[in-house]
Amino acid sequence: MTTDTHTGGAGDGVQRTRGGYDAATHARLAADCAQIMARYPDPRSALLPMLHLVQAEDGYVSRDGIHFCAEMLDITAAEVSAVATFYTQYKRRPNGTYTVGVCTNTLCAIMGGDELFEELSEHLGIGNDETTEDGAITLERIECNAACDYAPVMMVNWEFFDNQSPASAAQVVDDLRLGKDVAPTRGASSVCSFKAMSRVLAGFSDGRADEGTGAGTPTTEGTRLARTNGWEAPETAPAPADDPAPASKDAPAEPAAAPATGGEQSSAERTAQGPADTSSHTQTSTSSTPPPADSDTDTDTKPEGGK
Ligand code: FES
Repeated sequence: MTTDTHTGGAGDGVQRTRGGYDAATHARLAADCAQIMARYPDPRSALLPMLHLVQAEDGYVSRDGIHFCAEMLDITAAEVSAVATFYTQYKRRPNGTYTVGVCTNTLCAIMGGDELFEELSEHLGIGNDETTEDGAITLERIECNAACDYAPVMMVNWEFFDNQSPASAAQVVDDLRLGKDVAPTRGASSVCSFKAMSRVLAGFSDGRADEGTGAGTPTTEGTRLARTNGWEAPETAPAPADDPAPASKDAPAEPAAAPATGGEQSSAERTAQGPADTSSHTQTSTSSTPPPADSDTDTDTKPEGGK
């Protein structure tokens, strides 16, 4: 890791690290990063929560943040940028205090999600992934949040607002802009800021995770019905023997057993062991991995990308 300092180019006389942060901020973030990296066998696996940590500091994945992550993990800024630009949860320009996400996936859409989004877009005067002039609200379309039983669903900094109508959604954003306390319909009893939520996503609890009810009546209705009617799942097939006899040399190759979770070669390092690892289908399916970035310095100016 490089922690040498130099005077920043802004002429403010503040000693800055190579990552762009002043020394005190750098030291604070580096201590947080050490906690995050210690959670993983390979520190590089910490990159995703580290990017949330950067958002908790800057309100988006800033250029300084990208260089900071690269420095901490001893990888290139291009490698960090390639990951940061792949996921829509990582913002490439300063985000509003509240991300208001309207689910417009199939079920929510037909239950009114499209109308919710159109109402909010008109009400706020902004489009998808845009932020109100007061910096309060960033509006975006989001994919299914596994809350289809409460459709149409709106999220505010990833807290649930279930069974919304255009009028109720507009009231929520109005209250947020006025600084009023706004309570989600399920889960935590309050909504925190985008920066505060980003710190939670980096793995630093704010103590609200167990507030309220996560799975309400619509979610558990199937279980209740099954118990009332005495329904049970059918018997499953017996598990294969732990130690099957070795296959003969001439027998067709059996698919390799899945590696143990967390075991060596459990993911990227796993060597090809059968047709499933080398077929064209497998190769095609890997197209969802982050693409390589072609630049390590223009992260604030490149067009939006990612999922
Ligand atoms: S489709 Fe909207 S939460 Fe599932």
